[in-house]
Amino acid sequence: MPPVTLYVATSNPGKLRDFAHAAANFPGIEILPLPNIAAIPAPAEDADTFLGNALIKARAYAQLASGEIVLADDSGISVPALDGAPGVRSARYADDEAFPGPGTTDERNLDCLLNRMAGQNDRRAAYECVLAAVRDGEVLATGTGRVEGQLLDQRQGEGGFGYDPIFLLPTLHLTMAEVDMQTRLSMSHRGRALVDLLGTLNPTP
Ligand code: IMP
Repeated sequence: MPPVTLYVATSNPGKLRDFAHAAANFPGIEILPLPNIAAIPAPAEDADTFLGNALIKARAYAQLASGEIVLADDSGISVPALDGAPGVRSARYADDEAFPGPGTTDERNLDCLLNRMAGQNDRRAAYECVLAAVRDGEVLATGTGRVEGQLLDQRQGEGGFGYDPIFLLPTLHLTMAEVDMQTRLSMSHRGRALVDLLGTLNPTP
C-alpha cells in the first residue's frame, strides 16, 4: 500500500523535524511540508484555545491542497501560577503585556515570563501542542501532546529557541536549551501530538 502523505502547514524546519521524527515509528505515514504555503495570507490565530487555532490554520491551509490531508499545529507554554498564561499567546506575550526591552521577540517573551514569575513559588510549566488534520474542509482527527517542566529564574543553556533556556526538565536536571537533539526529539510535545493524532486518523476517503 502506498504511504499516506500528511502535508504539514509550516515553513518552520524545527517543527517539521519534530513531526518527521515521530512519524518514523509509523511506516505507512509520510510527512511533507505543504508546498506554497505563502500563497494565501496567514490566517489570524485569534482563538482562545490551542485547538481553536490549530483548526483555523488547518482549515485555511487545506484549501491549498484539494483532496490531501493537511496538518496544522498550535503550541505554547502554559503556566498554572499565571492562570495558564502565556498559553495561546506565547509567541506574542511581551507585546500583549506591553513589556519593554531590547532583543528579539523570543528574548523579550522570555524576559517577560521571568518578570511575571518573580517571587512565585509554584514554578510548574508545560509545553503544549494541539494538531488538527483537515481534508477538503473536513476535520479528520486532532491530537494533543504535553511536556511538563519547571521554570528557572534565569537562563541556562544556549540551544533551543523560545522559552527553552528557562524550561527545566526535572528528571534530567537540564533545561530544554541544554539537552541533545535526540533527547529533545524523543520528548517533543509536537511529536507526542502527532502520535496521538495518528492513533485516531482514518485516512480512507
Ligand atoms: P506557534 O506554535 O508557532 O504559534 O508558536 C508558539 C510559541 O510557543 C513559540 O513562538 C514559542 O514562544 C513557544 N513554543 C512552542 N513550542 C516551543 C518549544 O518547543 N520550545 C520553546 N518555545 C516553544
